[in-house]
Amino acid sequence: MELDISRIKEFNDDELKQLIEYDESINQDLIKVADAVRREYYGDKVYLRGLIEFTNYCKNDCYYCGIRCGNRKANRYRLSKEEILMACKEGYELGYRTFVLQGGEDGYYTDEIICDIVSSIRSKYEDCAITLSIGERSKSSYKAYFDAGANRYLLRHETADKAHYEKLHPDVMSLDNRKRCLYDLKEIGYQVGSGFMVGSPYQTTECLVEDIRFLQDLEPDMIGIGPFISHKDTPFKDCENGSARLTLRMISILRLLFPYVLLPSTTALGTISPTGRELGLQAGANVVMPNLTPVRYRQQYELYDNKICTGEEAAECRGCLEKRIEAAGYRAVTDRGDVAR
Ligand code: 5AD
Ligand code: FES
Repeated sequence: MELDISRIKEFNDDELKQLIEYDESINQDLIKVADAVRREYYGDKVYLRGLIEFTNYCKNDCYYCGIRCGNRKANRYRLSKEEILMACKEGYELGYRTFVLQGGEDGYYTDEIICDIVSSIRSKYEDCAITLSIGERSKSSYKAYFDAGANRYLLRHETADKAHYEKLHPDVMSLDNRKRCLYDLKEIGYQVGSGFMVGSPYQTTECLVEDIRFLQDLEPDMIGIGPFISHKDTPFKDCENGSARLTLRMISILRLLFPYVLLPSTTALGTISPTGRELGLQAGANVVMPNLTPVRYRQQYELYDNKICTGEEAAECRGCLEKRIEAAGYRAVTDRGDVAR
């Protein structure tokens, strides 16, 4: 069957499946069309998001993740409000107008503490977007953070296939609750980001089709994807990593299906391939997330083995990324970068 990519939005599941699966002949075309669509919506702009990994404590025990509670070898850390504000200050000076506060699901940060941190950032940096990425919480908690000044929320669904979800997570976690969170966040008024890992253990092409169908229902503003990378102290330590190739292919497919979406070229992609992030941008991604976490904690936020950018100061990361963005043929910009819908 010959696939006509211009019809991608009408593809049935079989056609999508065929498109996802390896096919050398249409790969270059796919990337070219995805880049054209990205340029139509966003030009050559690449948005910078300052990432602050503020806690690696986590109550969850996801089988793939290096900071799962079951990993006794992880050195745990938490940033104080002052440390978080210092990181924001540094980021602001580097031109970042979005701060992403990401962490494990850490009950130490109660709603009151999160609201206090968010409102302090909000009062200092009126022109910035505040993005939270702190996992599953109740709708009323999400509402409280929103009222305190948070604008965006990242929560990857990880996989939209129920059976697959259960192979990646212990019984106490559920895909239904994760989805509930995402719809709650949307209803409250957040710009919402979801996404999944590519090549996670037991993933099939059918799972990826389901991921796309779920995203089409959710209509997120942001979609984060990256290859699965094994971590030595997890149950999946011997599992094969996801491939850069399939990740890039999925980036292009997502750009075509969600032309307006903000799509990061992720650290995980840069970890499995030295030019992964550049290729990600060329395949349709338009966001990068330089690390703003104080360097002394960086290595401890180890979701997977050999994570890059753990030794570089924030300014070095900024410079490094700017060069990479230019080398790939794009331009780093410092605006807030809200979704273009
Ligand atoms: N490999 C790749 N990505 C991972 N994540 C967690 N563990 C891994 C891993 N081993 C991703 C998850 C999570 C995001 C913060 O990091 O998708 O949502
Ligand atoms: Fe962090 Fe290159 S982007 S060092």
